[in-house]
Amino acid sequence: MNQFAMQGVPALNVPDYVKHQKLIAWIGEIAALTKPDSIYWCDGSEAEYDRLCAQMVAAGTLKKLNPAKRANSYLALSDPSDVARVEDRTFICTDKKEDAGPTNNWIAPGEMRATLGQLFDGCMRGRTLYVVPFSMGPLGSHIAHIGIELSDSPYVVVNMRLMTRMGRAVYDVLGTGGEFVPCVHTVSKPLEQGEKDVAWPCNSTKYIVHFPASQEIWSFGSGYGGNALLGKKCFALRIASTMGRDQGWLAEHMLILGVTSPEGKKHHVAAAFPSACGKTNFAMQIPPASFDGWKVSTIGDDIAWIKPGKDGRLYAINPEAGYFGVAPGTNDKTNPNCMASLNKDVIFTNVALTDDGDVWWEGMTKEAPAHLIDWQGKDWTPEDGKAGRKAAHPNARFTVAATNNPVLDPEWDNPAGVAIDAFIFGGRRSTTVPLVTQARDWVEGVYMAATMGSETTAAAAGAQGVVRRDPFAMLPFAGYNMSDYFQHWLNLGKQLGDAVKASGAKLPAIFCVNWFRKGPDGQFVWPGYGENMRVLKWMLERVEGKASGSENVFGVTPRYNDLDWKGLDFTASQFDTVTSIDKAAWQEEFKLHADLFKKLEYHLPKELIETKAKLEQRLSA
Ligand code: OXD
Ligand code: MN
Repeated sequence: MNQFAMQGVPALNVPDYVKHQKLIAWIGEIAALTKPDSIYWCDGSEAEYDRLCAQMVAAGTLKKLNPAKRANSYLALSDPSDVARVEDRTFICTDKKEDAGPTNNWIAPGEMRATLGQLFDGCMRGRTLYVVPFSMGPLGSHIAHIGIELSDSPYVVVNMRLMTRMGRAVYDVLGTGGEFVPCVHTVSKPLEQGEKDVAWPCNSTKYIVHFPASQEIWSFGSGYGGNALLGKKCFALRIASTMGRDQGWLAEHMLILGVTSPEGKKHHVAAAFPSACGKTNFAMQIPPASFDGWKVSTIGDDIAWIKPGKDGRLYAINPEAGYFGVAPGTNDKTNPNCMASLNKDVIFTNVALTDDGDVWWEGMTKEAPAHLIDWQGKDWTPEDGKAGRKAAHPNARFTVAATNNPVLDPEWDNPAGVAIDAFIFGGRRSTTVPLVTQARDWVEGVYMAATMGSETTAAAAGAQGVVRRDPFAMLPFAGYNMSDYFQHWLNLGKQLGDAVKASGAKLPAIFCVNWFRKGPDGQFVWPGYGENMRVLKWMLERVEGKASGSENVFGVTPRYNDLDWKGLDFTASQFDTVTSIDKAAWQEEFKLHADLFKKLEYHLPKELIETKAKLEQRLSA
């Protein structure tokens, strides 16, 4: 008899290819706690994916889209209360509160374990516990790490198959004693005997919990991607950032792209922008027609794991294998490569359904269809749109495998990673911050990234359009004290500085950008999207020591003639609107930096305080 049968726990039925006793024992413990009806070991196969999707179609969780319009694709409509990450319900449980820092919610580990023990007791009753093995990063890569998610949500399973390297092969890498990050997830509405499940089960109580010391993740009550696909934000950013701190590497909220020049020279760039600020668009951009011979290719669109090589260069992988992107605003002009990626094999969540069984979202086409079913399952017409009711939720998402991307970089799955030539940091700021600035050195770059502000978006629950400091675009994702995180970046810079001196390589250059400055009419001035290539080209020419610029208060910026304007009518006066530095606005901005530094006072690196003083002096000179 299986050892848990006495406690009303189903047989584990461990497949013979799973040989990791610690893993098996842990699954037994979680099953004993959560009390599912059955346990299913996912193998990651296509047949399994198809079977689970069909099961969810029958249960009403997914709707199969018209295959003539969108082959092998599905639509999920969530509960209206479960549409975004819940930052106020996300916890970092370190022994000492200071180690989580003032930007994270903290509860003492003992107290949190007691709460979770009660919440998870019997939470999977009536459901199946799925065992989801996944590798973040190419299987077996020295930069990759493994996780096992136990979830009662088949929606999570199929999304994890698109978003990670998920399946049986993970157990081969794990062997009998390999390390894995244990992740437990429940949508948590235990089903009473005979009770029928709802299409999108979730709970009004939500907990997204991280224990950095034991590298555990526990997620309760939400089915939304950022809260439930635990390989993504919870593991690849919050837990991995603490692994990086302890082991000397970086886990960052960054896209990674390759740029190949007409001469065939290739560079790699990693760029951090807050959620829903265009990382996917930037990673898939198509250079303007006049940039003949330039090519951009995608390695990742959201997360980068970056480890130093012996030569002092930083090597990056995309730990993910798919894109969980924001649909609204995506169209054939803003991101044609993304639109092409979405032709088939997609799971859409909270977009609108057309009468012919396809999907639609705000910004997909100029004119909305005459009739839709909106993201809440209600009839919708353009009249409703005029009255301010959105057909798709502003944070509606698509999940799709990276291999659907027509400009996927050939190195995207290279276990060795790609060497990073430049880092870019950018927020969404309608005023103050200029189009592009290059930091004069690593410390100044860290200062720029640390003090970055951005207007909030629909990716997180809460007010939108409010400027908040979002250091390194990591505010919701740093799994430890933000000041210690700054220190980690500074330490790494010093260490790499020494290594590159020996090897003759170069440290990555650091740039700060802002695509979102508005003119007096409230409209964006910079055309953005593919035109961002003009700025990217200047940055790479700076890396190569070819482009000039002028030194100002904050670093080096291009003059009008330093950018390549071929094929774009953008006047010097428009350029001035997006690059000018308003002294009064910057005096105010520095006050906000001071507020941030006050908040982050504990362990704040003195180099950052000194850099601020130098910049302020320059501004007032
Ligand atoms: C995301 C986010 O889903 O940042 O990538 O919210
Ligand atoms: Mn993100």
